[in-house]
Amino acid sequence: MKTNADDLRKPILPGKGASDYERYLQTEDLLSLQKRPEDFLHPDELTFLVVHQSSELLLKGVAWELGRAREHIADGDLPNAARLLRRANQMLDYPISLLHVLETITPYDYQLIRAGLGHGSGLDSPGFLALLHIGPRLGEAFYAEMQRARISLDELYRRHQEFFGLHEVAECLLDFDERVHIFRFHHLKLAQRIIGGGVVGTMGTPVEVLHQRMEHLFYRELWDIRNQITAKANEENQYGNPRP
Ligand code: HEM
Repeated sequence: MKTNADDLRKPILPGKGASDYERYLQTEDLLSLQKRPEDFLHPDELTFLVVHQSSELLLKGVAWELGRAREHIADGDLPNAARLLRRANQMLDYPISLLHVLETITPYDYQLIRAGLGHGSGLDSPGFLALLHIGPRLGEAFYAEMQRARISLDELYRRHQEFFGLHEVAECLLDFDERVHIFRFHHLKLAQRIIGGGVVGTMGTPVEVLHQRMEHLFYRELWDIRNQITAKANEENQYGNPRP
């Protein structure tokens, strides 16, 4: 006898797959995007592919949420901007931790996988390039909002309770900048331990360049304001309010 439970198991969505789970997530296509085992240059290659492809998906998600956050900032909707910035930052933690999974590939084994990469290089990562694209635009939206509120960064940090929403957004931007920096740092360490720090990458870029790229920050002013606050406090402590 046909039961209600049987009906619930039947897919109702269009697409490939025996269940709505597979149809909605397009698992058949998704899980066929990796090389087949018979084509692996080394059994570790599946891990290499899964980490990279997952990172691309996550970075796509991060860039999307940052884009939405930028629109909220431009509309003056700071609570929703901060909510989506927090989500983007949480998501960005995963590509960082996934880098550590690749540290388990040994240098000789990696050379076998590397032989099949052609000129493939993370410099062309669509996900990371999307972060490099949206980062400065987020900053522009934030500074435009600061101008509208007619306050300086120093004022924002001094009167953070009064300007709670803007301060939250500033701190989320700092979190994002820090995560990109940490991604670059852990990625540099990964490259150093797997292929070495004194060699040239698959697109001809010396690994040393990764070190230089770590100098890059999206929101240097947000970091610098800390120096100014400390310098001012030191001055006040020295002249205005001497400690015993
Ligand atoms: C065995 C693991 C890895 C090695 C040895 C490695 C090595 C390198 C090297 C040498 C470069 C410099 C450019 C060039 O290729 O010539 C580079 C750049 C890059 N790679 Fe990787 N990579 C690895 C894994 C990853 C993963 C999992 C991601 C995640 C998406 C990634 C993302 C990037 C990005 C975004 C850049 C540009 C960095 C920047 O602009 O600062 N890499 N990688």
